[in-house]
Amino acid sequence: MKSILVTGGAGFIGSHLAAELFRRGHTVTVLDDLSGGFVDNVADGIVLKQGSITDAELVDDLFQRSHFDCVYHLAAYAAEGLSHFIKRFNYNNNLMGSVNLINAAVNTGVRTFAFTSSIAVYGASPQLPMTEETPAHPEDSYGIAKLAVEHELQASQRMFGMDYVIFRPHNVYGENQNIGDKYRNVVGIFMNQILQNKPMTIFGDGTQTRAFSYIGDIVPIMADAIEVPAARNEIFNIGADQPYSVNDLAAAVARSMGAPAEIVHVPSRNEVAHAYSSHEKVRRVFGERKLHSLDDGLERMARWVKQHGARSSKRFSNIEIARNFPQAWLV
Ligand SMILES: NC(=O)c1ccc[n+]([C@@H]2O[C@H](COP(=O)([O-])OP(=O)(O)OC[C@H]3O[C@@H](n4cnc5c(N)ncnc54)[C@H](O)[C@@H]3O)[C@@H](O)[C@H]2O)c1
Repeated sequence: MKSILVTGGAGFIGSHLAAELFRRGHTVTVLDDLSGGFVDNVADGIVLKQGSITDAELVDDLFQRSHFDCVYHLAAYAAEGLSHFIKRFNYNNNLMGSVNLINAAVNTGVRTFAFTSSIAVYGASPQLPMTEETPAHPEDSYGIAKLAVEHELQASQRMFGMDYVIFRPHNVYGENQNIGDKYRNVVGIFMNQILQNKPMTIFGDGTQTRAFSYIGDIVPIMADAIEVPAARNEIFNIGADQPYSVNDLAAAVARSMGAPAEIVHVPSRNEVAHAYSSHEKVRRVFGERKLHSLDDGLERMARWVKQHGARSSKRFSNIEIARNFPQAWLV
């Protein structure tokens, strides 16, 4: 059994992953600054260390004391669309914070460093679905930082022999998700609007497509990664195969919440029109697995949302660039 650090483990994906690793018998420590996560997301038996990955001293101290075998690095501010307007914050938190972890991991002999990158590294790919070989041309600061961390892990593997596993998930939804964040997670935004008897807001005409991935379909694969030799030093797309338009998603979310599908279209924002990826490689290495249908996954999340409601979310106050900031985010 291993000693494992999960950064961002009080957040949505990280809390499920930490709980799964703990269930498998590992010793699990979570490092989270609670900027987007919640203490009650962290399951009993898991050690929660509150602090930021941007605090190099704290990170070094934690690694020196704990002797982690593996790191799962999920801590990030993951509002992709907003990242254009908060570049400094984005690179400081998501890139420099990651560098602090990589330094400490190399210095203390961590064996495997698993990182949640994102489909955002591909940008507006002309080739759909995107495979791991599709050239990466990220179009926003969030995707650029994720790609830089991927390259940094590869350089550290070559230089210091620390193995990595990189996952590129996309549009993950499910229980524990913070549906109060208006800048990200369209499924959560729609459910929150329905709870408040407001129409669901869609940027543009809603024909943009994404494949929405249920949390329960990705976490077991991520947890397996440190045990599967063929996954070492590889990059994997991970998530659902079937793309849906945002209009179709709105209809499905309304069904899951038992509410009428009331929609209001707001001016489009600068975003990739179609983005979905191939999962042949992850199936080849981790085996074929049955995925939840969109309706099934949404129903599970809706049940949780109806019980827990929306948790308050801090409004992001330090916008660095006001130009072209979407009006819909100002209200
Ligand atoms: N949700 C998705 O659809 C999706 C898709 C692709 C990639 N990802 C990546 O997966 C990871 C987890 O995403 P999520 O959806 O669970 O988001 P989340 O916001 O629920 O979780 C992120 C966690 O990181 C913590 N955090 C942020 N900055 C930190 C810092 N400086 N120090 C310590 N903790 C910090 C937050 O408090 C939060 O608990 C992120 O790296 C994100 O970029 C998510």
